Amino acid sequence: MVIGVLTAGGDCPGLNAVTRAVVSRAIVTHGIEVVGVLNGWDGLMDGHVRPLTRDDVRGILQRGGTILGTSRRDPYVHGDGYASVRRTVEVNGIDAMIVIGGDGTLRTALALQEEGLPVVGVPKTIDNDIAGTDMTFGFDTAVSIATEALDRISTTAESHNRIMVVEVMGRTKGWIATYAGIAAGADAILVPELEPDLKKVADTIRARHRHGHTYSIVVVAEGCKAPTGESVLAGLDAYGFERLGGVGYAFGAELERLTGFETRVTVLGHVQRGGTPTAFDRVLATRFGVVAVDLAAAGRFGEMAALRGSDVIGVPLADACAEVRGVDPALLDVAQTFFG
Ligand code: F6P
Repeated sequence: MVIGVLTAGGDCPGLNAVTRAVVSRAIVTHGIEVVGVLNGWDGLMDGHVRPLTRDDVRGILQRGGTILGTSRRDPYVHGDGYASVRRTVEVNGIDAMIVIGGDGTLRTALALQEEGLPVVGVPKTIDNDIAGTDMTFGFDTAVSIATEALDRISTTAESHNRIMVVEVMGRTKGWIATYAGIAAGADAILVPELEPDLKKVADTIRARHRHGHTYSIVVVAEGCKAPTGESVLAGLDAYGFERLGGVGYAFGAELERLTGFETRVTVLGHVQRGGTPTAFDRVLATRFGVVAVDLAAAGRFGEMAALRGSDVIGVPLADACAEVRGVDPALLDVAQTFFG
C-alpha cells in the first residue's frame, strides 16, 4: 500500500509532528510506503510528490511550518475536482491520501472521497473551529503566544493609563480570543459569537479607571464585525479568498471616542502561527498522525482522526464538514465573569 500525505491551507505549529508520525507509523507498524505531496492540493494537481523515509522526518518534531509546504489552491475551486488530481494519484500508485487541513481542506477531502479517492483527514488549525473534534492541534501554541503577548502589552499599558486593544486571529470564530483573554485576565473579550457592545465595554473601562486601575486590555477576535456591522477585510489572498484583519483599529478608535482614554491597537498577526509547537500540540499532532495511519490501514476511509475527551478516535469526515464550530457558550460565560 502507498499512502500520500499533504498539508493544505494556512500552516500551523504541529504539522511536521503529524507528518513525522504518519511516516513512522506507516513504515514501522504497517509496512506502508509514504509519499509526500508538496504545497497542498497544488502538488496533487501538478504532480509534485516525493517519497518520504524515516530519515526525511528526523528532527522535525519541534519545527514550526510544514516541510511539505502548503497552499490554498483547491481542486474544486481552481480545477475539476478528482479529474484534476487523478493523474498524480495513478502515476505514483497512491492508494489513499492522508489530508491534514482545516475545514475547507477537509471539505475538499470529503468531496474527493465521494468521487472515489480514499481519504483520511487530520484536523489542523490555530482557529480551533473544526467540528467533530474537541480540539485541533496548533490552537494551544497560538493561545500561548497570544497570552504571552497580552502579558507583555499589560506592563507597557499600565505605565501609560491606556486602553490596549489586541486583535488576534481565529477567522470567523473567537476561540483564540476567548482562551488567551481568560489566560491573560483581559478586561474585555470581543468575539464574533456575541454581538460586541462597545458602550458596555466603555462603561466597564471607565469604572475600572475610576477604581484606580491604570489600564485596560481588550482582546478582539479578527472575525468580529466593525461597529458599522461590516466584516473588516485585509484584502484577497493569492487564490482569491478573503483575508480578515483590521477590526481592532475600528474598535480602538470607537473606545477612545467613548472613554476619552488614549488607546493603542496591536494586531498580532502571523506571529501566532509561527515557531515551535507547545508540548501539548506536539503530542496531539503525533496522536492524530498515528491514528490517521491506523484508520487508513484498516480501510476506514472517509473518516478523520479526532480528539473526543482524552481519546483520539476516527469520526466521519462529514461531521467535520457539517459546521464551523463556535466557542462553547459555557466558556463565553466563564470569560464574562471577569469583565468589569
Ligand atoms: O486559518 C488560520 C488563519 O491563521 C486565520 O486565523 C487567519 O485569518 C488566516 O489563516 C490568515 O491567512 P493568511 O496566512 O493567508 O494571511
